[in-house]
Amino acid sequence: MKKISADDLRKMYIDFFVSKGHSQISGASLIPENDPTVLFTTAGMHPLVPYILGAEHPQGKRLTDYQKCIRTGDIDSVGDPHHLTFFEMLGNWSLGDYFKEEAIEFSYEFLTKVLEIDPEKISVTVFKGDDEVPRDEIAAKKWESLGIPKERIYYKGREDNWWGPAGETGPCGPDSEMFYDTGRPKCGPDCQPGCSCGKYFEIWNDVFMGYRKEADGTYHEMERKCIDTGMGIERTVAVLNGKKSVYETEIFSGLLSGIESLCGKKYGDDEEDDKSMRIIADHTRTSVFILGDQKGIAPSNVGQGYILRRLIRRAVRHAKKLGINKPFLSELAKIVIDQYGKPYPELIEHRDFIDNELAKEEEKFSDTLVKGEREFAKMLPNLMKGNSRVISGRLAFKLYDTYGFPIELTQELAKENGFTVDVAGFNEAFEKHQELSRAGAEQQFKGGLADHSEQTTALHTATHLLHAALRKVLGTHVGQKGSNITAERLRFDFTHPEPMTKEQLKEVEDLVNDAIKRDLPVTVKTETLDEARSEGAIAFFDSKYGEKVTVYTIGDFSKEVCGGPHVTHTGDMGHFRILKEQSSSAGVRRIKAVLEK
Ligand code: ALA
Repeated sequence: MKKISADDLRKMYIDFFVSKGHSQISGASLIPENDPTVLFTTAGMHPLVPYILGAEHPQGKRLTDYQKCIRTGDIDSVGDPHHLTFFEMLGNWSLGDYFKEEAIEFSYEFLTKVLEIDPEKISVTVFKGDDEVPRDEIAAKKWESLGIPKERIYYKGREDNWWGPAGETGPCGPDSEMFYDTGRPKCGPDCQPGCSCGKYFEIWNDVFMGYRKEADGTYHEMERKCIDTGMGIERTVAVLNGKKSVYETEIFSGLLSGIESLCGKKYGDDEEDDKSMRIIADHTRTSVFILGDQKGIAPSNVGQGYILRRLIRRAVRHAKKLGINKPFLSELAKIVIDQYGKPYPELIEHRDFIDNELAKEEEKFSDTLVKGEREFAKMLPNLMKGNSRVISGRLAFKLYDTYGFPIELTQELAKENGFTVDVAGFNEAFEKHQELSRAGAEQQFKGGLADHSEQTTALHTATHLLHAALRKVLGTHVGQKGSNITAERLRFDFTHPEPMTKEQLKEVEDLVNDAIKRDLPVTVKTETLDEARSEGAIAFFDSKYGEKVTVYTIGDFSKEVCGGPHVTHTGDMGHFRILKEQSSSAGVRRIKAVLEK
């Protein structure tokens, strides 16, 4: 097996797939172009969704690239030896060209011939089938014909062997995952690929994109099947170099030695310190990529900017824990930019922005820490007077909300003074706050309203009618990608792979005008997102906490999660007319329309 670096692997992969007739395409921005359901690009296929759904790609039917990705789902697990927020994904795609068997052949050849992995060390999983989609005997047979014996081919269910969609709707399908056996003993009789004990390392995933998930939760088979694959660079480099953890590879050696010299401690000496070092290394790398992205995001209190702020603040806090008491982020950022400047030249281009923003945020948060500590010291005598030695969730949340003081720090200070913190109470206050800001974000996104005048309100209701009509005429793949309303007109962006025909436009107009004429009542109720979905409401948000949302129903015509406001009856909205239907971006169309009195 070859000992190779991330730079080597990137090149070997791309060269291999180019030699198999693939065009190399550039990776995309970390900020998804047209998917409001997630904050960051989470997989190589994410920017390719419109093409997997049927749009023609200018570079052909066989594509390959390396893509920067961020997954923040388990941000709080970062610190253990395995989790990362940022990672690079290698991928090859077939857009209606080759399918399952050839994709597996390519994977096997690359793993065993190019990377020279011993075939004996490879295990694979395939989809075991369910009521809707059959057991994947084709993939299993192919693996067997290549030399993977039956004992190392595992059949698994949807939880393990179904991938996608990347956001809430879109292409997905059964997959086949490839694992490297590290040779460590099994952790128990049930230990098999997918087990988290570390014996098996997942290195690659071939997805057989044959289905499309719609907003109403149903799956439709796609006429044109595609291949999507993803190989994580960090994990694969760890495997190829016999490392147990991604943090032990050359990918992190520069950052970790930078941190070592800042704090005068050695990685590997103390588990608690190691954890802080991993957090600083991961969060700094991710922050540099967010700041240095083509779309250059700065720290803020919303969306991607808020994630960035959290990452930077957590890194600073852990640096303090290690005893680093001077600004350090810029020094570490330099290591990241030098390491990644070649494959990601945008980092070099945005070097000043990265430096300035890091320095500003670092200083701001250091001030925050000082202020918060002072505030805490002020509160302390009062707290000491009481009998309870528990700091209320409300107070902990106030420190967080007013001073940006992380709960962990409140806990630390509390502990030093013989107190504990009501973390459950804090979480409750936190979730309530999240719900409110989410409702705000929802309103902002769903409404896209400039003001709440009578005219914009009517146009907003017309937008719901238009959305519903488009789904009736074109199909349920239509989903809102953006909405903007002025006093004069509405503008609505939606997913659809091709221009609409004159007939379709007329049909949509007629449906909307008919709904207006029928003078349908508009009703509103509040329920959980899951309840709303189960009643068929269109909703473009993910629900983790069972938040309540408002649902607007227009007679029998439309039901949609939305912040409002709307007219109470459709009757006197006026006559709906589409002015223009045009392309907005790849796979997204735009309609401008008016209500005429
Ligand atoms: N899109 C697939 C994944 O992320 C390849 O695993």
